[in-house]
Amino acid sequence: MSGPLTGMTERLAPDSAGIARAAELLASGQLVAFPTETVYGLGADATSGEAVARIYTAKGRPRFNPLIAHVASLAAARSEGVFNDTALMLGERFWPGPLTLVVPAAPGSRVSDLARAGLDTVALRVPGHPIALDLLRRAGCPIAAPSANRSGRVSPTTATHVLADLGGRIDAVLDGGPTQVGLESTIVTCLTDSPRLLRPGGLPREAIEEAIGRALAGGSAYDGAPRAPGMLASHYSPRARVRLNAERIAPGEAALLFGRRTPADLSGAGLVLNLSDRGDLAEAAAHLFSHLRALDDSGAATIAVAPIPEQGLGEAINDRLRRAAAEPEREGAITP
Ligand code: TXA
Ligand code: MG
Repeated sequence: MSGPLTGMTERLAPDSAGIARAAELLASGQLVAFPTETVYGLGADATSGEAVARIYTAKGRPRFNPLIAHVASLAAARSEGVFNDTALMLGERFWPGPLTLVVPAAPGSRVSDLARAGLDTVALRVPGHPIALDLLRRAGCPIAAPSANRSGRVSPTTATHVLADLGGRIDAVLDGGPTQVGLESTIVTCLTDSPRLLRPGGLPREAIEEAIGRALAGGSAYDGAPRAPGMLASHYSPRARVRLNAERIAPGEAALLFGRRTPADLSGAGLVLNLSDRGDLAEAAAHLFSHLRALDDSGAATIAVAPIPEQGLGEAINDRLRRAAAEPEREGAITP
């Protein structure tokens, strides 16, 4: 068996042969990155502790965080986790889609202890992407998959991003083109009848609140809510310094803009990219990580980011930008 740290990474076409090859690699304990509608995931057979362990090696993750187990259907999710009425309603309403539900692990759950980091809960998601669903059906097991980036880098939204971070460290990447949503899934815990938002993401808070008929507790990095384990404030860190809510751009700074309002002085700026010229938050989310990578790669010391509205997907976009702007902190120092 070729080790993931020495071999070549196969780039697989998203056709029947490519997906079959990916499923076969997963079944033999190998690592395969695959597209979801949110970001690319780094997949391993969630039932095999050995396969899951290789995810941490490949990512260079400093410690074991619990991972999301991806499954093909709500029915498959229900054999891994215990769904109360709220969880069931959310799963029926939003799956397949950019929502992860944290529920108590089912007594017969096959998700390995390592994938759950020893917790008695499990994070489950049915991704809304035809290639991911096809792969899950063929693999026949839950697939543990964190975002397919090196630890500390922003999440990949193309196969090229995956290869830039993990080429030679994983066995294959299924190339499904750019992902549609561009932000990781929204994570909601359903351990009691009051669901809590652990991470804002690709499903806007407002959609969930409309479904449950009331406000959703938690979510802001700064409201004292419990965070998803492993969500360090500085989790998403470009090399460049990131300056938020920039009204003007200093000479030499790279700039990340939003909407039609252009800062007065762009003449001395480095690379300038706009998340969405027409001020559309879904388009902005889809561009966020690729633009951050491109601006970081431009070599600028600072990336100045224009203000972005906080409603809808803006909550998750601003959450990721605040993390990108945070100074690196000690592992375990989870922001209250
Ligand atoms: O969109 C996504 O969610 C992507 C795609 C690949 O599905 N995946 C992703 O995985 O973002 P990752 O590992 O980067 O983030 C998973 C988050 C972590 O913050 C982790 O702490 C949280 O899920 N998590 C997993 N299991 C949990 C549990 N039992 N309780 C609380 N949080 C959990
Ligand atoms: Mg991640």
